[in-house]
Amino acid sequence: MSLKIIIGSACKELGTKVLERMSQPATATVLECFPDGEFHVELLDPVRGGDVFLLQSTCPPVHDNLQELLLLSDACRRAGAVRITAVVPYFAYARQDRRTGGRQPIGARLMADLLVTSGVARVVAIDLHNAALEAAFSVPMEHLTAVPLLAEAAKPVPSGAVVVAPDLGAVKLAERYAGIWGLPMAVVHKIRLSGSEVKVRRIVGDVANREAIIVDDMISTGATIEAAARAVVEHGATRAQVVATHGLFVGEADRKLHSLPLDAVLTTDSVVPPTLSTDLHVRRASLDGLVAEAISRLHAERSLAAFRAG
Ligand code: R5P
Repeated sequence: MSLKIIIGSACKELGTKVLERMSQPATATVLECFPDGEFHVELLDPVRGGDVFLLQSTCPPVHDNLQELLLLSDACRRAGAVRITAVVPYFAYARQDRRTGGRQPIGARLMADLLVTSGVARVVAIDLHNAALEAAFSVPMEHLTAVPLLAEAAKPVPSGAVVVAPDLGAVKLAERYAGIWGLPMAVVHKIRLSGSEVKVRRIVGDVANREAIIVDDMISTGATIEAAARAVVEHGATRAQVVATHGLFVGEADRKLHSLPLDAVLTTDSVVPPTLSTDLHVRRASLDGLVAEAISRLHAERSLAAFRAG
């Protein structure tokens, strides 16, 4: 099976680096939007008999990027691809992994079903909101992590620092960073009031007179990081910095973060570079090495164990 790599609109920057690293040409495509809002997708190169990797994050505009991925997959299936792997560095709807009340959908499960229906035989994702999401898929899911590369990119970390999980869901992630850096941990007990509002109940662990390194899977509206940063400073932390895999920065996110005493904000290039309305300095470590290695290994039927999340 010949290797074919298709880059979606949301992963142009990352995809270009991945192709360069792998010395691979991109499979050419037409990706356009008709005047009525429908997408038109076409493969300009053959994929028949191919082992196809579709690289596309489902970041905002979520439904456009998702639909493009689904159409690309369907096009590959109909054009005779033998196997289609969706490499989705940022996987949308991962936070909708269960019903929190009655009469709600399970968005993550529906995403999984849509991908499989379109022809995807395997999914690769990076630092999902919830590792248990794998269970939503009827096809193999490779859940990889960017923690080691972000932990390296964040160095040097101050020796007296503390790793802070900004909510209970980030505890495992924080444990991983704390283990790599050899630092203690603290946990912020957050409750979510709405899609863009959160409230801190208390902090478990000692942050006084320490620099706080707040770690999370993603920054969306920035509300979680803002609440955590304000809380640790109120509890005596000297400064704070942020490390999060997916930097979406939607709405007022960069304004919120800009107003905080942050030394650094580190994310990855898992999504389209956000347009910021402030001069907030966001450093983006590239996932190109991780994604290139994942594609090479999967194509060669080799293990990904060394890159798996938790
Ligand atoms: C939630 O549990 C996630 O891990 C993130 O903390 C959260 O989704 C980030 O969203 P926002 O930036 O809108 O608070």
